[in-house]
Amino acid sequence: MERLICLAVGYVCGLFQTGYLVGRMSHVDIRKKGSGNAGTTNALRVLGWKAGLLTFAGDVVKCVAAFLIVCLLYRGTDCLPLLAVYAGAGVTLGHNFPFYMNFKGGKGIAVMAGLVVVNSFWNVPYSLFMIPVTLAFFLVPVIVTRYISVGSLCAYTAFFVEMVLIGQTGWLDMSESRCYECYIVLFLLTAMAWYRHRANIGRLLAGTENKFGSKKKE
Ligand code: G3P
Repeated sequence: MERLICLAVGYVCGLFQTGYLVGRMSHVDIRKKGSGNAGTTNALRVLGWKAGLLTFAGDVVKCVAAFLIVCLLYRGTDCLPLLAVYAGAGVTLGHNFPFYMNFKGGKGIAVMAGLVVVNSFWNVPYSLFMIPVTLAFFLVPVIVTRYISVGSLCAYTAFFVEMVLIGQTGWLDMSESRCYECYIVLFLLTAMAWYRHRANIGRLLAGTENKFGSKKKE
């Protein structure tokens, strides 16, 4: 039951479509411009760096908000890290599939950044290494290839692997079965991120993916 409540709390927080709202502030429907994705990259591409930054910040904050609500609801329980992952899964679902926008939202990458921040609350400062490592897995591929989608997929996959690796050290402070449950949910989220990027992957293979810094596409 707790898991379902956390998923629901996350889903409601994830419904806050920062990219779409930031676009609306400039009288633009971001879903009809650029890649058509209501996320940070497309906000950056279509509306500029301020809109991109605002979208990113809003999407991270909704993940942190869901985490704080879950902490308030379930403080003191021994499986809080697992519940936080369920909340993060809910935020990702709300962000990617908002029911009131015909289930057409973002791809969950800024939300994943929120998950990295949230997960860095456990066992600080040990867990804080996740922020620079995940960031490096994003930035290096982007700098080398100039494809944000490549950096996004590398960072998401790295985040999953980091969670599993450091989970092995007892870092999550939960029973083995709950840790495995955590990894399964994170694996499904990572698979969803790849699935949501299927059009990007198709464009990468065809050599037509948008490069960071190239001219805006209508
Ligand atoms: O954050 C999503 C990014 O990886 C790809 O975005 O707009 O190029 O599909 P976009």
